[in-house]
Amino acid sequence: MSTDNAKSLGQQNYEQFADRYAAAAPTKPHNALYERPATLSLLPGDLRGLRVLDAGCGPGLYSEILAARGASVHAFDVTPEMVALAQARTAGLDVEVRTGNLEQPLDWLADAQFDIVLCPLVLDYIEDWAPVFAEFRRVARRDALLVFSASHPIDAWRLCGDGNYHQTEAYAIPWKGFGEPLPVVNSYRRPLSGFLNPLMDAGWALETLLEPQPLEAMREVNPQLHAWLSRAPCFLCVRARRR
Ligand SMILES: C[S@@+](CC[C@H](N)C(=O)[O-])C[C@H]1O[C@@H](n2cnc3c(N)ncnc32)[C@H](O)[C@@H]1O
Repeated sequence: MSTDNAKSLGQQNYEQFADRYAAAAPTKPHNALYERPATLSLLPGDLRGLRVLDAGCGPGLYSEILAARGASVHAFDVTPEMVALAQARTAGLDVEVRTGNLEQPLDWLADAQFDIVLCPLVLDYIEDWAPVFAEFRRVARRDALLVFSASHPIDAWRLCGDGNYHQTEAYAIPWKGFGEPLPVVNSYRRPLSGFLNPLMDAGWALETLLEPQPLEAMREVNPQLHAWLSRAPCFLCVRARRR
């Protein structure tokens, strides 16, 4: 786990287009009609009385939804521009937002204080997941849920071109759908075993592995994307319970 002050990969990626991400993600079909409904389906609908950690909160879309469902939310993100966007989006709600880096110990958080740890679309920017899952377990209460999503191993391997499926590898691609200039996003891809073994080794019991289907509504707004995502995986969503 890194402890230096070098900018994390996540910050390098997202400081270049935080505003544009915040503007597009609420309605962008990949998020609004595919990843977000799938990830949310792994959470209880009623979150009243529950304390939730939104790790890598971005512009605060999930935090806003969690608070609307009754949760008390603590959110953090490594990109200061994202923290400001999340604070603005969740002003007046039971959401506290600060900067924090998942590649370092979450040392401002006490042990055993969250009922749910949520981490959507963040772990692709972190090479070593073992210490992250260990920190999530430390701050989670007994029987707490961990829900996260990340690039599907098969899709990321396809995007890598000639990569070795069995290794964790860095790759970079320009992202369409967030306007110009196209942000070049650096990520890590890993095999399925690289998703699940560090999770279970860190003391989380796997409950659900979801390979989502796009919502029917996507067929109207983007029929080609709907057809593609109906037969090719893009994200993997995971629910695990603290042992
Ligand atoms: C694709 S956005 C997802 C935001 C939010 N979770 C969502 O799904 O709407 C990825 C976010 O992860 C954050 N991030 C990347 N690496 C991080 C790290 N090491 N620690 C904390 N946040 C990180 C980025 O700053 C960015 O806001």
